[in-house]
Amino acid sequence: MRSPSRPRSLVDRLHTVTAHTTALIVVAAMGAAGGATLIPEPVAVRTVAAAQGGGLAEKTVTIDGEDYPNPLRLHDGAPVTTPAEWEGTRRAELLADFRQHVYGQSLPEPTAQTFDVTSTDFTGVTRKTVTITATGPEGTGGFDVTLFVPKTGGTPKGTFLMIDHRGQVGDDPGQSSGFAPVSTITKAGYAFAVLDAGEVAPDDSGSYRSRMIGLFHPADRELPDDAGRAISAWAWGASRAMDYLQTDPDIDPTRVAVIGHSRSGKAALWAGAQDTRFAAVVTNNSGSTGAKLARRGDGGVGAETVKRINGSFPHWFPTTYKAYNDRVDALPVDQHELLALVAPRRVVVASATDDANADPEGEFLAYVAAEPVYELYGLGGTGLPSATWPPATDEGFRGAAMSYHLRSGGHGLTAADWDIYLNGDLFSR
Ligand code: GCU
Repeated sequence: MRSPSRPRSLVDRLHTVTAHTTALIVVAAMGAAGGATLIPEPVAVRTVAAAQGGGLAEKTVTIDGEDYPNPLRLHDGAPVTTPAEWEGTRRAELLADFRQHVYGQSLPEPTAQTFDVTSTDFTGVTRKTVTITATGPEGTGGFDVTLFVPKTGGTPKGTFLMIDHRGQVGDDPGQSSGFAPVSTITKAGYAFAVLDAGEVAPDDSGSYRSRMIGLFHPADRELPDDAGRAISAWAWGASRAMDYLQTDPDIDPTRVAVIGHSRSGKAALWAGAQDTRFAAVVTNNSGSTGAKLARRGDGGVGAETVKRINGSFPHWFPTTYKAYNDRVDALPVDQHELLALVAPRRVVVASATDDANADPEGEFLAYVAAEPVYELYGLGGTGLPSATWPPATDEGFRGAAMSYHLRSGGHGLTAADWDIYLNGDLFSR
C-alpha cells in the first residue's frame, strides 16, 4: 500500500493501471500535451459484459447472481444499440423513472436568477464569493458559492464544484483539510468551488423546505408525493452554481466536475446524471441511493437499506421512494443505471474498505455494471484489471471515461482520495 502523502504522477499511475491490467485496456497514443489516452480493448470488454450475464439484448442483467434492470433495454423491451437511441429515448426513460420513484421531481429552473460577485485577491489565488439569487412562484431567495481560482496565467485545468453538507469549507484559500484541501487543489492548477447544502435545503426534516424548495412550493400545502426533497434540492443547487460558472471568464465550463461525499455524493451523482454540463461526476462513499445497488439490501455487511435510509432521513427522498421500503425488487431502476446516466462523461466512484454502511462491494458492482453504456459510445473499460471484488486498495483505476478507487480505511473524504482525484486526469479522455 502506498503512502497517501507521496505525490505520484499520472504516468506513474498509468503504469500502475497497466501493470494490473492485461485484458481490459491498453495504453495508447501520448497526446501532444503529454497526456495519455486509455483505449478499451473491445473483445475483452464484451467478455466482461457477458460474464455479468448481461449482453446488450437481455431484459435484465445478472449482477452477483441476481437479476437487475438492464440499462440498455427500453421500456417496450427493445434493445438499445446506439448512442442515438440511448440519448433520444432510454436516457429520458431512466431519468423519468429516477424522478418518479427515487429522487423526486426536480425544482424547475428559476424564473429569474442573478449573481453578485465579490472578488478578493490573495497570493496565488483569487477568491470569489458569489451570491446566487433565484426567484420562483413563491418568492426570491439565495445561497452562496465560494470559488477559488488559481492564478496560473491561464484557465485552470478544471474546476471541482463541491456540494458540502457539513458546512465545513470556509473561505480561507490556505485551508487544507482532508475533506477540502483547497490550497492543494489550487496549487495543482484546479479551481475549487463549494456550496453549502444547508443554504439550499437545510438537512433537517422540520425545516428542509425553508430555503430553495419554498420558492417553488407553497408553504401551506403538503409537497406532492413525487416532489424532490433535500437531496434533489442540493442537486438543483449544483446546477444553479453551474449556471454561474458558465458566465465566469476565468472558468472553462466544459471542464467542471461536480463532487460530493456521502449524502452529498448522492446529490452530486443525481446532479450529474441530469445535468450534462458537468464534464465529470465524482461520487465519494455515497452508499445507499448513491452508487450502491439498492437490490443488495444490507449487502451482507449491515449496510444501509432503502427502508433504513427513508426511516432515518425522511426529508431526503420523496414519498414515492418510501413505497419501495419493503420491495426494492419492484424498483424500475437500480443505481448502476444512475451511474450509466453520466455516460459518455467521466464517472468517478470511490469507496472505502471499512465503510460497511455504504456497502463498498455494492458500489463496485454498480460501477462495473454501468460499463456497457460507456461501451455503446466506444468508451468501454472500467480501468479495473478484473470485474471481481475486491480490487487492489489505494490505487486509481482509469478507463476511457470511468474512474474508480477503493481507499483503505473508513467513511470519509480524505487527502488520499484527493491525491487520486488530482492525479487522475479526470477532465480529459
Ligand atoms: C449516514 C447515512 C448515509 C450518509 C451518511 C453521510 O451514515 O446513513 O446514507 O451517506 O450519513 O452523509 O455521511
